[in-house]
Amino acid sequence: MSAMITVSENLTFSLTNKKFSYVFRVSPERLIEHLYYGGTLQNPEQVSIHHLRTQRETSSVFEGHQHLNLSGMPQEFPSFGTSDYRFPALHGRNADGNTIFSLQYKKHKIVKEKPRLKKLPSARGGDSETLVITLEDTLHKLEVELFYTIYADYGVLVRSAKFKNKSKVEIQLQHAFSSALDLPPAEYEILHLHGTWAREFNAERVAMPKGRFVIDSARGTSSAAHNPFIAVMQKGTTEDYGRVYGTTLIYSGNFALSLETGEFEDVRLLAGINPFNFHWRLKPGKKFCTPEALHVYADKGLRSMTHLWHDFIREKISPPKFKNMPRPTYLNTWEAAYFDVDENKVLHLADRAVDVGVDMLVLDDGWFEGRRDDTSSLGDWRADKARFPSGIPALAAKVKAKGLKFGIWFEPEMVNPDSQLFKDHPDWAIQVPGRKSSLGRNQLTLDLSRDEVIDYLYGQIDDILSCGDIDYVKWDMNRNMTEVGSGALSRNRQREVSHRYMLGLYNLLERLTTQYPDVLFENCASGGNRFDLGMLSYMPQGWISDMCDPIGRLDIINGASYLYPLDVTAAYIGPSPNHQNGRVSSIQTRFLAGVFCAARGISLNETDIDAHKDELVQFMALAKSTAQDMVGGRFDRLMKNENEVCWQYTSRDEQTVYVAYFHILSAPNLPFRRALLIGLDPEGYYTPVDGGVSYGGDMLMQNGLPLPYVTTSHVSDKVRYMDKGDFSSHLFTFRKTAS
Ligand code: GLA
Repeated sequence: MSAMITVSENLTFSLTNKKFSYVFRVSPERLIEHLYYGGTLQNPEQVSIHHLRTQRETSSVFEGHQHLNLSGMPQEFPSFGTSDYRFPALHGRNADGNTIFSLQYKKHKIVKEKPRLKKLPSARGGDSETLVITLEDTLHKLEVELFYTIYADYGVLVRSAKFKNKSKVEIQLQHAFSSALDLPPAEYEILHLHGTWAREFNAERVAMPKGRFVIDSARGTSSAAHNPFIAVMQKGTTEDYGRVYGTTLIYSGNFALSLETGEFEDVRLLAGINPFNFHWRLKPGKKFCTPEALHVYADKGLRSMTHLWHDFIREKISPPKFKNMPRPTYLNTWEAAYFDVDENKVLHLADRAVDVGVDMLVLDDGWFEGRRDDTSSLGDWRADKARFPSGIPALAAKVKAKGLKFGIWFEPEMVNPDSQLFKDHPDWAIQVPGRKSSLGRNQLTLDLSRDEVIDYLYGQIDDILSCGDIDYVKWDMNRNMTEVGSGALSRNRQREVSHRYMLGLYNLLERLTTQYPDVLFENCASGGNRFDLGMLSYMPQGWISDMCDPIGRLDIINGASYLYPLDVTAAYIGPSPNHQNGRVSSIQTRFLAGVFCAARGISLNETDIDAHKDELVQFMALAKSTAQDMVGGRFDRLMKNENEVCWQYTSRDEQTVYVAYFHILSAPNLPFRRALLIGLDPEGYYTPVDGGVSYGGDMLMQNGLPLPYVTTSHVSDKVRYMDKGDFSSHLFTFRKTAS
């Protein structure tokens, strides 16, 4: 394999594979000057210096270098105050009490084995090369190592930064971004995913403003308000047209993705820990590692960006053990019984699960000591004696004796003031002295920056998992943080708490997932309040939203799919009328909205299960027979407007193609729609599994698949109709055939 990273004699660095080139150089002033990020270049070292050193009226001149003004120079890791006025990647306080750092190139090395971050999750290596550039501020003896990993087969560039205090005095970090990317002036648009509880992942497109546009979190979780993802796109980008720069982070806490159009219209992207409310004291000799930022460049629109992300996340982020592993269907007790669970009820639901062909029974909230509603008991992870007299291991064994798997819910990071744990350790909650703590769902957050809290939680969870009969854990987290402070840290380290919390959480997850490699963990935070690549590094799948109404969930899945492969998502058939928005919908539409999610299931009470038994049997059989296909395949958004959504899913072996079509409100005389399918074999044939004519792959891609028609009167055998009325849905399944 030829080298992906090359370094010219005059220190121009090129990272090039078959998907992209990324080029920067050491400038004559020993600054790291960004030159190019985009499609693959044959001769990257020939890239022109797009920053023209010329007289800019009234601008400051960097350290006496004629015609060099850093406000107009694209840089790899900008600091503040030496003629660049934009938001910087590094900002802090030095021994003199001022905030001026000036970083210059010191040395570089190329390593074949991608370094893993010590206390943070990081992308796995493989066929890759990593360039490490060392910069230094010679006055204050701060060293910054910039890490760049490029892979032979992926379009993702992984970046992070490591700060080392080589001086004899403390340095304080305020901006410690993972990555900076200065893009050339152009007309850009931004795509990002915003939301709230049960309405996560709304895709918003906005024109790039002059000034700053920031999505961030200061809540202690990456949050549903802004998923840590942003795409900077050529104006007018569509699913299959346009250049796109996408960015995300492997981090689950307070993050920021900041865009800034500077005075000369270059656009700066910064990705990393949110500098707001962050302050890290770096003692002499100490290091600080940032989380990893991931960048993709895609030149064929949002679809091509999505494919780059999906391939990478599956291979390099998700736990490898579960890669391409079909996920069990489950019956979750939450919307079946809420807190009203006991051993008998669980065993009855388990019988229903067997009746309708579900693989696993998941006991959600309500099983532990004293937990009858959401006002108490978080922290006391022992089975409630009155309702689960034989304990969880015995219950798990009984459920398994019915031929099912068994899963259980935990919310380990939390404590209710009304709990034994809080009585024993009131200082273990995140709080600040002298102020009343604001509760969220009647609970406080435990201080995961403390080792003793991590050990306690490990012990409590291990007590249950060690019985060996637990196949699955739903790991929940149901509040944002307030009054953030830790009794275990000194006064001048209080602004380190949020990040130290994340380090504690990752440590706990690392220990548990190493000890229990076969347990399938599902990430949840009131649905999608912490759905990010940090959590998904440990957990193969996530509960993406509490919105179980199918129409509500369509938008959520559609938005999430820009970044996340559906391998990491879960969905179930919930009750109708829906408990989140009151909508009435069919079992079919409730199932099909989540049909391409890897994990599927049911959360219905016994009466509902009995009333819809035949349909549930049918759909759970379909979930089972398609479980292998719903991991590792290709997901394509074919159509989305106010009233319709159409998705394609192609199995990994490309032998089966699924198309799901949703029609929201019925109306007369609607257009006849077609969906142009993607990525088929133009010479192959595709035959519907339920009979009917085969289509040529070229026909389905060029002329399109006629979608079912919505009308109240079915008059022709030649037309495929949707169910009458609102919220109808249809699933096509084609197998590739010889003719
Ligand atoms: C959160 C989750 C739900 C359920 C409840 C239990 O809201 O998102 O799925 O587990 O907690 O309290």
